[in-house]
Amino acid sequence: MINNQINISDLHKNIFTILNDKKINQSSSEANIIISEVAKVKNYKKLSDINFKKLNLIIRERLKGKPLAKIINKKGFWKEIFFTNEFTLDPRADSEVLIESVLEDFSNFKKQKIKFIDLCSGTGCLGISILNEFINSECLFMDICNHALNVNKINCKNLNVINKSTFLKSDLFMNFKNNINDFKFIICNPPYIISEDILKLDKDTSYDPVIALDGGEKGYKFYQLIISQLINMDYKNSIYFEIDPKIKKNVLKLAMDNNLKVLYIKKDYLKLDRLIKISFH
Ligand SMILES: C[S@@+](CC[C@H](N)C(=O)[O-])C[C@H]1O[C@@H](n2cnc3c(N)ncnc32)[C@H](O)[C@@H]1O
Repeated sequence: MINNQINISDLHKNIFTILNDKKINQSSSEANIIISEVAKVKNYKKLSDINFKKLNLIIRERLKGKPLAKIINKKGFWKEIFFTNEFTLDPRADSEVLIESVLEDFSNFKKQKIKFIDLCSGTGCLGISILNEFINSECLFMDICNHALNVNKINCKNLNVINKSTFLKSDLFMNFKNNINDFKFIICNPPYIISEDILKLDKDTSYDPVIALDGGEKGYKFYQLIISQLINMDYKNSIYFEIDPKIKKNVLKLAMDNNLKVLYIKKDYLKLDRLIKISFH
């Protein structure tokens, strides 16, 4: 327990030590996030600026193994802070490679009106980050889970992109009635964990909803379904798929079997294959 007898300059050190002793990764940045969460003012200087009751509650929950994002209902991704809860996957830094790639590929379109789809949108972190980079773009967010779509809407409102956003509750493209070729590209981070691996995942991931993780017996069920639905709709543009390195070969085979062009594969910041861009042209 941290009490208000310590020196303000020792606050970070004390929280860091408590987290680090429990082998919590990134203890230093978590200590910073916790302090900003419990500071009553932006530029805290005195102990009276800190809400110690809230601080100790957060630390207690964190030491029980609950991820910090699920305690404070916030997670940083790309350039923003996203609201997240028990119905959404907490945004992961691994997925930022999708944003970087779209930014590179569409660098000449920064001010043009681009419509795109964020399929399996969860918090909406992918689509919202792109909407913020391309000022005249519009995004259709699609997810099967109503609760997740509500979180997505909250984030769109908080981050001032609600006017550029539409939402569709749909099992993949089942309820989709638009012309698919009106959309310049699709970004999609589908559930991709092999079903029997779900129980072996790290403790943090066990707090994410199973519906956001379970990719079926071999992990690539969603890629198979999405590719076949897009072919049936005669889609002519590209999709940026997040992948798990474990299923890369199977997704590549799916593309080959369907005569689709794999434009590139990219790695995340841990140098793991994380993105496959497929063209339907
Ligand atoms: C891995 S999460 C990705 C969330 C977010 N795009 C991100 O990158 O953080 C997968 C999302 O797919 C949604 N989902 C699961 N099955 C679906 C389906 N059949 N159709 C549409 N969305 C689905 C889940 O509700 C979840 O929000």
